[in-house]
Amino acid sequence: MFFKKKETVKAVDERLKHVAFIMDGNGRWAKKRSMPREFGHINGAKNFKKVIRYCGDKGVKIITVYAFSTENWKRPKNEVDAIMNLLSDYIDDAVAMVDENNIQLHFLGDMSIFPPKTQEKIKNAEAVSADKELVLNIALNYGSRAEIAHACEVLAASGKTKFTEEDVAGALYTSHCDDPDLIVRTGGDIRLSNFLLWQAAYAEFYFTDTLWPDLDEREIDKIIDDFYSRKRRYGGLDK
Ligand code: IPE
Ligand code: IPE
Ligand code: MG
Repeated sequence: MFFKKKETVKAVDERLKHVAFIMDGNGRWAKKRSMPREFGHINGAKNFKKVIRYCGDKGVKIITVYAFSTENWKRPKNEVDAIMNLLSDYIDDAVAMVDENNIQLHFLGDMSIFPPKTQEKIKNAEAVSADKELVLNIALNYGSRAEIAHACEVLAASGKTKFTEEDVAGALYTSHCDDPDLIVRTGGDIRLSNFLLWQAAYAEFYFTDTLWPDLDEREIDKIIDDFYSRKRRYGGLDK
């Protein structure tokens, strides 16, 4: 007896323009293998490249990844140091993907915390990719509350006293792109951990127990199919 394989969405359309990932679970992935947490971050960075390529091939126009939060500095120094050492490779990997995958890079967060050399690398990565199409936002030293506080400073400095929602959105690190349609969190926790609080107002959420280094194409297809089964009403009624 043959069962017909369920069709999966082959290519996304304008309903799924922007997908954001909370790339969680690297540490546990390493622990399961009796390896240091750093090993999880190395493999997480590898999977980041695979996921970006796959989503790009599917037609997603904007991808945002949460790589390091303003709260992650609380971790033990050896882990933070290991992540910071990987950061340079992360940026190089992203730059290497620019031409092949037509990627326009943006870094979300306060970059002033990083050493001048790293800041230079980040600026250069954004500059060399500015004419590309697929927007890839990498949230680094990013926290949504810090982002909103920063936006308040920007708005206050404009001298105006009345602001629209568009004004606020325009002062956020994501001013160059539309809000996420779908936010995916790996690693089993069901929370936002200070990610895109403003931008997530009408996002769809998908939480999976899969640890970030294990998120594969099959599961991404499943997540996309699930997204297309949702009814987004934005406070209105079904059409
Ligand atoms: C996410 O994985 C990566 C960062 C936060 C830098 P974790 O390092 O949080 O991994 P778990 O959640 O401890 O498994
Ligand atoms: C969220 O993961 C941040 C990133 C994936 C970069 P965390 O591991 O920091 O989140 P919490 O601490 O479990 O909320
Ligand atoms: Mg975590």
